Amino acid sequence: MNRMLLEIPDCFDTTRLHVCRYQAGDGAAYWAMAQRNRVHLFPFEAENPVRSLQSEQEAEGLVHEFAALWALRQSFFFGAWDRRDQTFVAQIYVGVVNWDLPEFELGYFVDVDHEGQGYVTEAATGALAFIFDHLQAHRVLLRCSDANPRSARVAERCGFSREAHLRQNRRLADGTLCGEYYYGLLREEYRQNRNL
Ligand SMILES: CC(C)(COP(=O)(O)OP(=O)(O)OC[C@H]1O[C@@H](n2cnc3c(N)ncnc32)[C@H](O)[C@@H]1OP(=O)(O)O)[C@@H](O)C(=O)NCCC(=O)NCCS
Repeated sequence: MNRMLLEIPDCFDTTRLHVCRYQAGDGAAYWAMAQRNRVHLFPFEAENPVRSLQSEQEAEGLVHEFAALWALRQSFFFGAWDRRDQTFVAQIYVGVVNWDLPEFELGYFVDVDHEGQGYVTEAATGALAFIFDHLQAHRVLLRCSDANPRSARVAERCGFSREAHLRQNRRLADGTLCGEYYYGLLREEYRQNRNL
């Protein structure tokens, strides 16, 4: 498979969401989102570049970086917007672990005002179709802190199996020790879950 020749859709829809790669010009909306979510992302995503943005211009630069990474097939960043009123709801990240297998990593966060409404599970389920159908994945990896049960529940609702538990291998932003769950989903399992 030549990854540069893969036909990859820019967007997909779920029941409530329009999920689309960021476009040039999204910087203003991204900056507003970053300011809203700085505190929300602190406990488990202290290092997320969203938190270190200082201006709308930097946000526009980051959106351009996402576009460059997409073009190089190095990672795929999506925003998820409410289909009714176009408000920003969540971000979905698809990273490349290994193009030869191929294996990808799924990541996400929800906007602070949209937590606990099932949006991330919905967007992540759509992203799995993108990963298995369009990127032709054999396997998907998902990592989350063992101190983050909300994230673990998203993984489990999406059909992932917990494959490993690394104990006390990192510190949270506040210095607390925590471990990390590794989840995996195989192509065969995904197909069975979807009754394909
Ligand atoms: C981790 C995180 C993405 C989970 O988000 P979330 O909103 O809990 O996940 P979902 O959007 O899938 O919502 C699921 C919850 O909504 C509830 N829900 C409410 N209405 C719903 C609906 N219409 N449909 C489905 N679920 C609904 C579900 O019962 C579920 O609650 P539960 O987990 O208490 O059982 C979010 O907490 C987050 O972004 N945190 C900060 C960043 C972070 O932790 N990042 C680390 C990722 S590894």
